[in-house]
Amino acid sequence: MSFYEERAQRTRAFCADRFGMFIHWGLYAIPAQGEWIRSNQRISAEDYQPYFEEFNPVRYDPKEWAALAKKAGMKYAVMTAKHHDGFCLFDSALTEYKSTKTPAGRDLIREYVDAFRAEGIKVGFYYSLLDWHHPDYPKYGDPFHPMRENEACKDEKIRFANYVEYVHGQVRELLTNYGRIDVMWFDFSYKNMSGETWEATKLVKMIRELQPGIVIDNRLGGDGKAAEPVIYAGDFESPEQILPSEGIADVLGRPVPWEACMTLNDNWGYHAKDKNYKSAKNVIHMLIECVSKGGNLLINVGPNAKGEIPGESVAILEQVGGWMRENSASIYGCGRADMPKPEWGRYTQRGKLLYAHIFERGVATFRFNGLEGKLKKARLLMDGSELKLLRPWMARDAYEADAFVDLGTADLPEPMGTVIELELL
Ligand code: GLC
Repeated sequence: MSFYEERAQRTRAFCADRFGMFIHWGLYAIPAQGEWIRSNQRISAEDYQPYFEEFNPVRYDPKEWAALAKKAGMKYAVMTAKHHDGFCLFDSALTEYKSTKTPAGRDLIREYVDAFRAEGIKVGFYYSLLDWHHPDYPKYGDPFHPMRENEACKDEKIRFANYVEYVHGQVRELLTNYGRIDVMWFDFSYKNMSGETWEATKLVKMIRELQPGIVIDNRLGGDGKAAEPVIYAGDFESPEQILPSEGIADVLGRPVPWEACMTLNDNWGYHAKDKNYKSAKNVIHMLIECVSKGGNLLINVGPNAKGEIPGESVAILEQVGGWMRENSASIYGCGRADMPKPEWGRYTQRGKLLYAHIFERGVATFRFNGLEGKLKKARLLMDGSELKLLRPWMARDAYEADAFVDLGTADLPEPMGTVIELELL
């Protein structure tokens, strides 16, 4: 089987799930200015150390997080096992720089895995390839390391092979000690720090051996859009804070699985002053947009130092959940429709069910271009009520290819996102 076919098979369930929760959490929640603070402010290991000594998330209850994800209609989650600062939320035998050695005193990843699995939500790990704590990670001259301009690091001898071994060892731990893991989310490759620098072929072979069902993102390097990608090119593309305009295809024009990851405000890690939250309606439209282009949406939350997801994020996700409760049939298992993008919104489709997501009511009788004679039934998805298919007398000559429906109101019945389920003949 070709890489393309294997990838399509491996990602089938992942692509049907469509909606997931990203969780960025670590020591950086204490300074509360996002997860890049060490790099942005060139903070030395010494000056960052107090956060390790203080880390005590007394309100950490991943059961609450899992319940929220479930309520929001999310089917999987991806949590930072280690972010760029190198701090591990899991009990790795390969480092002392981990949650069990802080006042938290526990393996926080284990509790996350157990809680989410108990809710029937699939679990994934984010793992940073960058590591600003490990002694054998390049410092001086690296584009991102907090010590990149520190002359004292200039002639330091590092043994990068040690670091690669560490990465492989930790990935082995993560994929051995926590049962079934559904997603492995590496972040990220840059310049020559890519692909075989991480010994990516060997790494991916080990991952597939340990977790045959897992899907892996594309940030180990390699080009997932090539005709025959390298083995570490990943199972899905991961556009960040941006949505592709037409979905993603390979060089031969065949669709490639993808997942957009997006923040709810403007930061991944907790930021106390960042109140620039998106509305629930915006998040719903983002989700619809992704599905209409054949992609998934991974929405981020950044819990605070005490271990709580910010109230604003909770409120948004609960509202999204309200919409999902009635309308998720137009999301799960759905993908790109066999139709051009309509002027009033988006289509998603699953087999013979075509979902019209109306963002703009427009005026006059509601029209589906090109669908006359192709529809068996139209229903409002939010309550299942029937919508009468019409044949306005004017439509006989001028609009004969179009189908019409009586929406019954001049406004949209569901302002967050009205969905009409169209059953195709
Ligand atoms: C970026 C950032 C990182 C974040 C990630 C999520 O690559 O480095 O902080 O975790 O995007 O996609």
